Amino acid sequence: MTRIFVSQEIVEEALAELDGSGIEVDVRRDHRPLPSEELRATAADYDGLVCLLTDRVDAGFLAACPRLKVVSNVAVGFDNIDVAAATRAGVVVTNTPRVLTEATADLAFALLLAAARRIPEGDAFLRAGRYTHWRVNQEQMGVDVFGATLGLFGLGQIGRAVARRARGFEMTVLYHDVVRLPPETEAALGVTYASFEELLARSDFVSVHAPLLDSTRHRFDAHAFARMRRSAMLINTARGPLVDEAALAAALRDGVIAGAGIDVYEGEPAVHPDLLTLQERVVLLPHLGSATRTTRLEMSRLALRCARDTLLGKRPEVVVNPEVFDRR
Ligand code: GLV
Repeated sequence: MTRIFVSQEIVEEALAELDGSGIEVDVRRDHRPLPSEELRATAADYDGLVCLLTDRVDAGFLAACPRLKVVSNVAVGFDNIDVAAATRAGVVVTNTPRVLTEATADLAFALLLAAARRIPEGDAFLRAGRYTHWRVNQEQMGVDVFGATLGLFGLGQIGRAVARRARGFEMTVLYHDVVRLPPETEAALGVTYASFEELLARSDFVSVHAPLLDSTRHRFDAHAFARMRRSAMLINTARGPLVDEAALAAALRDGVIAGAGIDVYEGEPAVHPDLLTLQERVVLLPHLGSATRTTRLEMSRLALRCARDTLLGKRPEVVVNPEVFDRR
């Protein structure tokens, strides 16, 4: 019998994707990750693993689970998986792009607006009974988003979706990516290429939309913050380790940059203690990027379909390491 193990709770309705497939599925209905040793011991009895970004799949894990043919991550980012090791082991890796693009772009924009207009501070102020009268020099004076310059670090699907939103705010949109787009695509998206240094120097808001790779780890460090405008704000909905969190906290504390809207952390779920003490113009969320009901359902469904199709001998609709198929 072909078997799939779902390592943690997913959106339950999505399991219908396996109906009639003849595949047996075991769902661990718990929202906490399994310790790696236990995950390894359990997954060893399965052909497919549907896992979350909090599950680590490395070479040791794959060696302990020789029966596995597919690892299907319920996330677009797959830095929790050693893809090279999976490819060597002939294991297909899949992720959930596209279905979460708009929700994540919405959240990036929400963070940008929340930090710029100091929304959580205003909310806390009112709830504390401190709103006694309207005044011109209001306590939560913010900065303009409309017409400002937005710098996108990474212009994949999510970066482009943020660029589309920025158009409605008549923002100037700069981007930096490893590949520069053809001029017609840049014109259609309304974006202008900038070197990393130029992006830092010119942007009122810098929003991070790149994957976590060796080349992007700590790309936003003390050196980068020193090159940003003192009035600038950093938005990160990508992966925590792209930002040196201690350096970010220091830059915010020392007024090197003005604010931040952060959804992802270096040692998630831990947050650098210095960041937690900063409240002015600093908005911190618990990794909510794709957290809408419809999006999480679509992510769960896509991950299950990819595992199902791989195990039925078909090429899944998304695959991170197509080399595995090319080699067959
Ligand atoms: C969430 O962070 C994802 O990568 O989908």
